[in-house]
Amino acid sequence: MSQAASDNAPEKLWGGRFSEATDAFVEAFTASVGFDARMYRQDIQGSIAHARMLAKVGVLTEAECEKIMRGLNDILLDIERGDFAWLVSFEDVHMNIEARLIDRIGDTGKKLHTGRSRNDQVATDMRLYLRDAIDHLRGEIRRLQGALLDLAEREADTILPGFTHLQVAQPISFGHHLLAWFEMLDRDHDRLGDCRKRVNVMPLGSAALAGTSYPLDRAYTAELLGFERPSRNSLDAVSDRDFIIEFLAAASLIMTHLSRFSEELILWTSAQFGFVDLPDRFCTGSSIMPQKKNPDVPELVRGKSGRVFGDLMALLTLMKGQPLAYNKDNQEDKEPLFDAIDTVAGSLRAFADMMPALQPNRERMRAAALQGFATATDLADYLVRKGVPFRDAHEVVGRAVRFGVESGRDLSAMTLDELRQFSAQIDGDVFAVLSLEGSVAARDIEGGTAPAQVRRQIGEARARLATA
Ligand code: ARG
Repeated sequence: MSQAASDNAPEKLWGGRFSEATDAFVEAFTASVGFDARMYRQDIQGSIAHARMLAKVGVLTEAECEKIMRGLNDILLDIERGDFAWLVSFEDVHMNIEARLIDRIGDTGKKLHTGRSRNDQVATDMRLYLRDAIDHLRGEIRRLQGALLDLAEREADTILPGFTHLQVAQPISFGHHLLAWFEMLDRDHDRLGDCRKRVNVMPLGSAALAGTSYPLDRAYTAELLGFERPSRNSLDAVSDRDFIIEFLAAASLIMTHLSRFSEELILWTSAQFGFVDLPDRFCTGSSIMPQKKNPDVPELVRGKSGRVFGDLMALLTLMKGQPLAYNKDNQEDKEPLFDAIDTVAGSLRAFADMMPALQPNRERMRAAALQGFATATDLADYLVRKGVPFRDAHEVVGRAVRFGVESGRDLSAMTLDELRQFSAQIDGDVFAVLSLEGSVAARDIEGGTAPAQVRRQIGEARARLATA
């Protein structure tokens, strides 16, 4: 469908003022149909709304409008059946469809473009297309968030080491860790919703750049297309691509999040960590090393983040030198946008499909939390509760840890006498504090890692998802 067929030059819709045919290479070089044909549905949707509005204000008769709508709907079916020859000589999706309409219904088809330009048409199509894409992506984000909540609920009591500087820091609930990813995605969902507001504005009626002399009912067209309102300035409306840049920025952040997420999965599936196992269907093997099972999906997602950042840079650079209003440069907005949409959609889908199948290795997580003196802070806090100033407590525990490093034992594996060498304030009740469960349960503060908090956060998150 997106592959434009070559053809023997039917007449251009703008051929009137030209005295020679377009150079064949220039024709191919300037055409966008190879990549903008994917907006055919939005282009037809926009044209139908425009025609209905033209009939409402009396520029078209009802009969003409009917004929145009039927023609456009037939074209839609043709395209979806694969029975539509996209021609490079018609340059883009807009002129391909319009030419086909004229071909099908005759002279009435020539009236569709009244009071419209491809400049406001393409801006409208892009907004409709992106709005649909945003709605799809927000659904995928929610699907992934739902999977994370299910997993978090199951793993609220599972303990693994939390890291800072990739060094063991403190024990945490695995459910809590999963909720951190949930939160990142929640902001992404929000950001896309915010971006959607500025996408959902209608350029039609701006025409080429200055508006039009026909008495168009712009509010009516906007309503038909589900736009919040018509744009307020015609020059801005035909040349504004901020909404794409905003989307690409939001898309870049989604990819940043998925890339961090990927990095952890890649680390965690390694033999050295062994915290989780990905099901075979999300991994691949090596052609030379028979033992290998590689976490390809997260690696690829981590890698693909670069494409989306590139797409954002491409659009910023595309726009920065453009005088008002429309310039052909803008045709270059499409491939980066489509690439970003496809990349983010694919990455979210892969993660949403993969998450329910993630297998945590609870024993490995626990064993790792027992190394690296993850409960050292708990011992310091214990001493503080016994009246030792925090800085002194920090020093005492530091010495205990050094002893542990030298004797190869965790704090919880030391005897009471051994621990008391470092502080006479330490009593038998210290072992409850040094246990992983005790440490995690103690952080029973809003946003903290105590399983009770994690469960509360899951409940709140579920309520939020049900209403948003
Ligand atoms: N294919 C063009 C684009 O994507 C459509 C608008 C063309 N407008 C024009 N005045 N040449 O930007």
